[in-house]
Amino acid sequence: MQRGSDIEHAARVLAGGGLVAFPTETVYGLGADAASDAAVAKIFAAKGRPKNHPLIVHLADPSLDGWAREIPEVARRLARAAWPGPLTMILRRGPRVSDAATGGFDTVGLRVPDHPVAIALLRAFGGGVAAPSANRFGAVSPTTADHVAGEFGDALDYLLDGGACAVGVESTIVDLSRAHPTLLRPGGLARETIEAIVGPLAAPDEAAPAAPGTLASHYAPRAEVIAVALADVMATVAANAGRRIAVLAPAAAFRAWPMMTARAYPLPDDLAGMARELYSALRDLDARGDVDVIVAALPPMVGLGEAVGDRLRRAAGPRK
Ligand code: TXA
Ligand code: MG
Repeated sequence: MQRGSDIEHAARVLAGGGLVAFPTETVYGLGADAASDAAVAKIFAAKGRPKNHPLIVHLADPSLDGWAREIPEVARRLARAAWPGPLTMILRRGPRVSDAATGGFDTVGLRVPDHPVAIALLRAFGGGVAAPSANRFGAVSPTTADHVAGEFGDALDYLLDGGACAVGVESTIVDLSRAHPTLLRPGGLARETIEAIVGPLAAPDEAAPAAPGTLASHYAPRAEVIAVALADVMATVAANAGRRIAVLAPAAAFRAWPMMTARAYPLPDDLAGMARELYSALRDLDARGDVDVIVAALPPMVGLGEAVGDRLRRAAGPRK
């Protein structure tokens, strides 16, 4: 695998139907030409992802020409306010989207990322880039180029290195193809910010989940994860005595736990910092190989806390 910062080269690889991993403000993406079924098929093969899990198409141009149809006014408003940024909108698909990218759905996920390298790549390539997070199916999303290199090695044609991702959790997904805007996945753009623009967001229909990737067990490290309220961390550590425990919590919390016997993994105290560091922390703890269980403190469910809490709950979910 080649790795570097050559945007023109990366764009040529995409044009030739190859796979390019690239940075966004949320996490690294595993990209291919969104208009080509053959190129998109390589993503599913490399990730080990079921073919009915649709991909997000990344664009430099928020006009969405050819990529979506019947775009409601509320989507235009949201695009103007939130793009470029960590928001994916689900809309009725346009003719430019390959069938492979949509997993057979009549809708498509679209996003204009807020990262200079991603935008430069999209401009140089000139089309849409279909990209899931650049991790193997079910694993923790990568927030550095080293994370990506560790997962994919030779399956990639080029790894575009753009440093560490500033947001650190995936984009918020809002479905605007239904009668009422629906939050499918909390993420890097806070619910409150979106609701100020489109009004209250509906919850997805639990009986028929519309984002097939939002499985109960997802974003999971190898170690067992137990996600609990901050107030329950000490009791959970005590209940797991005898196991090799690491505690993932805001730095300030550890000052209130002078008797903590488990390994401490302090995260920043602010929610944006927590989101930024979360996936590296899970990967670091796994890489040490001497942690059986990660006891993680759930943040308050406001702002980016909703995304951090969602990922911790999924990391703690039942394994396949
Ligand atoms: O921040 C992000 O969103 C990152 C970066 C690379 O942009 N991408 C990302 O992609 O997280 P991925 O594939 O790991 O997660 C996308 C989620 C999946 O759960 C997928 O099922 C859902 O979006 N999705 C994509 N298109 C959809 C559609 N048409 N309808 C419903 N869900 C869709
Ligand atoms: Mg993913």
